[in-house]
Amino acid sequence: MGKIAVIGSCSTDFTVTTDKLAHMGETVLGQDLHTAFGGKGANQAIAAARLASPVKMVACVGEDHFGQEIINNFTNNQVDVTDLRQVSGPSGTAHITLYQGDNSIIVVPSANNKMTFSSTEEIAAVLNGVDIVLLQHEIPLATNETVINYCYDQGITTILNPAPAAEISTDLLNKVNYLTPNEHEVQILLDNKNWQDQLSDYPNKVIVTLGKEGAVFHNGKNLHYIPAYPSQVVDSTGAGDTFNGAFAHGLMIGLKLEEAIKLANLAASLSIQAVGAQGGIPSQEELMQSPHYEQKWKKE
Ligand code: RIB
Ligand code: NA
Repeated sequence: MGKIAVIGSCSTDFTVTTDKLAHMGETVLGQDLHTAFGGKGANQAIAAARLASPVKMVACVGEDHFGQEIINNFTNNQVDVTDLRQVSGPSGTAHITLYQGDNSIIVVPSANNKMTFSSTEEIAAVLNGVDIVLLQHEIPLATNETVINYCYDQGITTILNPAPAAEISTDLLNKVNYLTPNEHEVQILLDNKNWQDQLSDYPNKVIVTLGKEGAVFHNGKNLHYIPAYPSQVVDSTGAGDTFNGAFAHGLMIGLKLEEAIKLANLAASLSIQAVGAQGGIPSQEELMQSPHYEQKWKKE
């Protein structure tokens, strides 16, 4: 079996649960503080690894105790940390407000901003033996560009989860194999409020995640909606990340696009039933126990 590399962010999430949102200049009392592992890159790596794909995390954490705990968490989840670096300064953090099961997030990248490569040789060494590369927007955009260009030349499959939202060049849009924005991110990515009309320009490539509505992509003939699975939302943080990690896993085991999306939808729907970005990410066993699991998703 091949290998997935996630080149991306690691953070510690500080989640405050509140039944009242604070407006600017206002103070409110929250209910609860929950500290957990997060960062879009890390969450996606853990999601693929829990489904038993071989995964390596390429990232920077700080030299603080958060950094060390992030490394331990990867090791506990069978993620390869050979190319994870500890750099001076603090580790990344995310400050999350959880309100009625939904969240808003402020990310402070810190060490994640140092995730750069000094040469093509370095990228080549890191990606030796890697088949799929998964990227997000919580490390410098220039790093993503270099990686996507390299992978394009080498025929390595790339998935870019363009979160948080940012525009990317047409060249990059053309070179990346899959893009997985949500409804908000796709408007910025394609610079178009009527993005549905534009998905036909990117058939089998741009997959828009729609929360409880599932996901949609253009299959070359028409828009194809793939529904989500019913689930009880406790904490939706990291649902998109679970989708991406599981999607990469689905491609890794050779599933067709539509099946990989279905599998990713199921993993995401399970992930929101527990607190924390990684708390509900299902293992392979948990996925298989779901009544919605399909036997054809079993890896050969
Ligand atoms: O996608 C969820 C993640 O976004 C959280 O874990 C937080 O770290 C933010 O980066
Ligand atoms: Na969760």
